[in-house]
Amino acid sequence: MAGAEALTRLPLRRMPPALLALGLHVPLWGGLLVICLAVPSGCERSLPWLVLAEGLLAWGLSRWLGLPGWWQVINLLFFPLLWLLGRNDIAPVWYLAGFLTLALTSLGSVFTRVPLFLTSQRVIEALAQHLPAGPGLRLIDLGCGLGGPLAGLARLRPDLLLHGVEAAPLNWLLSRLRLDGRARIRLGSLWDEDLSRYDIVYAYLSPAPMNRLWEQARRQMRPGSLLISNSFEIPGVPPDEVIELDDPIRSRLLLWRMP
Ligand SMILES: C[S@@+](CC[C@H](N)C(=O)[O-])C[C@H]1O[C@@H](n2cnc3c(N)ncnc32)[C@H](O)[C@@H]1O
Repeated sequence: MAGAEALTRLPLRRMPPALLALGLHVPLWGGLLVICLAVPSGCERSLPWLVLAEGLLAWGLSRWLGLPGWWQVINLLFFPLLWLLGRNDIAPVWYLAGFLTLALTSLGSVFTRVPLFLTSQRVIEALAQHLPAGPGLRLIDLGCGLGGPLAGLARLRPDLLLHGVEAAPLNWLLSRLRLDGRARIRLGSLWDEDLSRYDIVYAYLSPAPMNRLWEQARRQMRPGSLLISNSFEIPGVPPDEVIELDDPIRSRLLLWRMP
């Protein structure tokens, strides 16, 4: 029986892939630690091989579990890289800086289940091409990240009035600096936005919040206004239009015109 199929019977299968992927390492790394404590003399010599074996095992397990390719790569490299870093004399302040950067850009995704990843250039061009024309149309990017789509649209579609909302403080700051007055960017939760203020709502989030987003859009958006999701579907609500794009991650723009 295939791994993923066998797991449909276990509650494990319902865990978010990120937790599942990182969770794989705990027992594997624990096993290595036990070996090292039991045979300290042999540990130093064999540690590189053990770490490599751990990476390969975690990679094999994540393949068997059917995790996406990029999680498989993370699982393969996670402990070997940690081990390599540990062998170099890196000042602790760099680890602190790495942690703070991660916390200020992505810690919230533990709760929102919406990590930071960026709209491709191809999608931005397609947006600019397909968005309705008309002076003063207001567009908001819900969770505007580092401001890429807004910066692209500011250049390609200067007729639009651009807005963004972002919950992660460092992302918000970077997009504000990047847009420098060409878009209004608010620090806060997208759930506090009043969507009736916009003609076009763009969202590149994750599968997790799509039902809630649809509920909010249905309640607030004006008839004729446009909801656009980059790649993530709204379960049970077929889009009015789908634009397939040939970027490396096969993005799709899903468009709903509000009734
Ligand atoms: C997948 S990224 C997309 C970034 C940007 N829109 C783009 O396409 O390049 C999602 C962003 O939404 C932000 N986010 C997630 N949940 C949020 C919320 N409830 N309120 C505001 N921003 C949120 C995340 O911090 C992240 O920067």
